[in-house]
Amino acid sequence: MNVMSPETTHRPGRNAKPLTPVVITIDGPAGTGKSTVAHRLASRLGLEFLDTGAMYRAAALIAIEQQIDPGDGPALAAALRDARLHFDWTASPPRTMLDERDVTRRIRQLDVSGVVSLVAARPEVRRVMVDQQRDIARRHPRLVTEGRDQGSVVFPDAPVRFFLHAEVSVRARRRVAQLVEAGQTDIDEQRVIRDIQQRDELDATRTDGPLVRPAGAVDIDTGSRTIEEVVTVMEGIAREQLPDAGFES
Ligand code: DC
Repeated sequence: MNVMSPETTHRPGRNAKPLTPVVITIDGPAGTGKSTVAHRLASRLGLEFLDTGAMYRAAALIAIEQQIDPGDGPALAAALRDARLHFDWTASPPRTMLDERDVTRRIRQLDVSGVVSLVAARPEVRRVMVDQQRDIARRHPRLVTEGRDQGSVVFPDAPVRFFLHAEVSVRARRRVAQLVEAGQTDIDEQRVIRDIQQRDELDATRTDGPLVRPAGAVDIDTGSRTIEEVVTVMEGIAREQLPDAGFES
């Protein structure tokens, strides 16, 4: 892993101009286009990109493979501490690794998606993740990070925080398009809508790190704009709010 000073970092390939740390958080429910938006925003601004959902998905994969009850928080947390969950930052977006194994694709499969909300609801798991995410930000201090609790719990002092939302019907349409692209044919749209509502409910009502709109976050409706438009709006806000951050031009 590329370890940088927590105080300043240097733009690679340029004359060593010290750059200050800057964390931009993006939270919101599934289907708002968060990951794509976060990755593109990071590229435009010359920041790194952290997908914290991938970390919870890797935890769910550990539960499946080690046959740990997804509701057993202490056992999951112990397994997570033993596993070397990390990212390969040489790729863009970074690849999710368990030890030397690249699990980037594996963690998107249905079995993982089916248990990840349960795993993410365990306070013991969240504690380990929050620590790891702050540790990542110390090593990668110029970061766009996306998830459910990034602006509310993990980085409440981040200078720019966004909250993405979109109507359930819009998010369901996006999910259906993804499933079609993945080759699925017999898709029940009503079921997709119910699944999204159920996942929202689980994410919003868990006691630890629930999905909330962080106080002071900028609201962005992604349902009425294209992904590119959303990224452009967010880029403008970040540049305006942080004129001295040394973003890529
Ligand atoms: O964004 P995603 O679908 O990859 O997230 C997977 C799961 O992890 C989802 O149930 C929400 C949860 N999650 C979370 O609880 N906190 C985060 N910071 C990121 C994701």
